[in-house]
Amino acid sequence: MFQSPPLGKCEALHKVTFQLMLAVGAAVIGSLQFGYNTGVINAPQKVIENFINETWSERNEQPIDQTTLTTIWSVSVAIFSVGGIFGSFSVGLFVNRFGRKNSMLMANILAFASAALMGFSQMAKSYEMLIIGRFVVGLYSGLSTGFVPMYVGEVAPTALRGALGTLHQLGIVLGILMAQVFGIESFMGNKALWPLLLGFTFFPAVVQCAVLPFCPESPRFLLLNKNEENKAKSVLKKLRGSADVSADMQEMKSEHRQMMREKKVTIPELFRSPLYRQPIFIAIVLQLSQQLSGINAVFYYSTSIFEKAGVAQPVYATIGAGVVNTAFTVVSLFVVERAGRRSLHMIGLAGMAFSAVLMTIALSLLEKLPWMSYVSIVAIFGFVAFFEIGPGPIPWFIVAELFSQGPRPSAFAVAGFSNWTANFIVGMGFQYVEMVCGPYVFIIFTVLLLFFLVFTYFKVPETRGRTFDEISSGFRQSAGGEKHSPEELAHSLGDSQL
Ligand SMILES: *[C@@H]1O[C@H](CO)[C@@H](O)[C@H](O)[C@H]1NC(C)=O
Repeated sequence: MFQSPPLGKCEALHKVTFQLMLAVGAAVIGSLQFGYNTGVINAPQKVIENFINETWSERNEQPIDQTTLTTIWSVSVAIFSVGGIFGSFSVGLFVNRFGRKNSMLMANILAFASAALMGFSQMAKSYEMLIIGRFVVGLYSGLSTGFVPMYVGEVAPTALRGALGTLHQLGIVLGILMAQVFGIESFMGNKALWPLLLGFTFFPAVVQCAVLPFCPESPRFLLLNKNEENKAKSVLKKLRGSADVSADMQEMKSEHRQMMREKKVTIPELFRSPLYRQPIFIAIVLQLSQQLSGINAVFYYSTSIFEKAGVAQPVYATIGAGVVNTAFTVVSLFVVERAGRRSLHMIGLAGMAFSAVLMTIALSLLEKLPWMSYVSIVAIFGFVAFFEIGPGPIPWFIVAELFSQGPRPSAFAVAGFSNWTANFIVGMGFQYVEMVCGPYVFIIFTVLLLFFLVFTYFKVPETRGRTFDEISSGFRQSAGGEKHSPEELAHSLGDSQL
């Protein structure tokens, strides 16, 4: 039912032009910002906790108790994802009205505001500013995780969509790594410079604002939303570096015709229509599989995890995790077009589950065998490596590949919401669960990972190299048991809206 199609027309479109690289490069600064702000609160946890403690003592004339401190810290970490929820849900409000490029440009207002809030929070003796700043930069990041893959996917030729799509992931992991390196105590992760570490988000925002005006608007947006065929053509010619863009125009137009049939699909319709119910369910569970794998327990809290595992230089182990993370994202960049999305996702989940078991063993034997701290480093590195093979890049790929233009903005909004909600749960809850479960905290992730592995095996179709039409006809067959004509489908969709 999900066999690969012949590739045919895609093979001619492999050229990577300067315009394409500029556009993709400018866009993925948004990914970099997201990664940076994911990783930035990891290494300086203690230093900033001290600031919260001092500020609290000054105001209340008594030191803060451990539970209150854990709560304020968890909120500072996790409110980023609450911003992410609102941001990712607002993507649709911007991209169709202002265009993809201008939306990315406008979002930088949030990056500047958050840099100021976080950067001046120490000076103002206000951890509330830190928390609001984390919320605002979460908004920016939520918007970016919608804008960037959409824009990159729409400027990229079909054959390169997968590979360039992984650059979003590469931007994220480089951002995380950058934040971890900057967070070394002798660099910016200290009492004097942590406000600069958090406010650093200002600089990539400046660069993005300078470069984006020289990038093209998405040809798909110009043609399908604005109905400006000539502009779309001239943008495509620059992007492809070729005078003949008829194949691309043809593909977009055939999608356009399909969109006119399907109309714009709203979020409730995604769940009501038998056409979309199964794909959106799969998209949601895959997003959950990314976050509930426990990856952000590592990216938010690894320094504290390594410290409890008896590692002598926890910040350097955290940077090691960032390096492994980046290296395996590069590996995935090369394999993702060759191997199927589905197999990669399953390999990733299985590897993470194994690493989580190893981590549990290491933590529980630590008292008797101090060298287990090294095993814990290996386990976390493996955990991160396998994440980048599968659950890191694959869920976003599959959302983009399961939905055509009509339902895509709604599908991205729902996927984003699921992703950020799960991200929030892990960020907010991890430290509390760790207090209760101690060394067995990673068992919870193991169970979840095995569940997602089984789900992927039974429910997720292969999307590599297949058109939206081919993928959705696979769902139609499995949902209806027989093949429907497009008219019948449009009709059944019309019914389901009542
Ligand atoms: C807060 O700071 C005081 C004074 O430096 C210290 O004694 C106390 O342990 C700190 N509280 C916490 C929860 O870290």
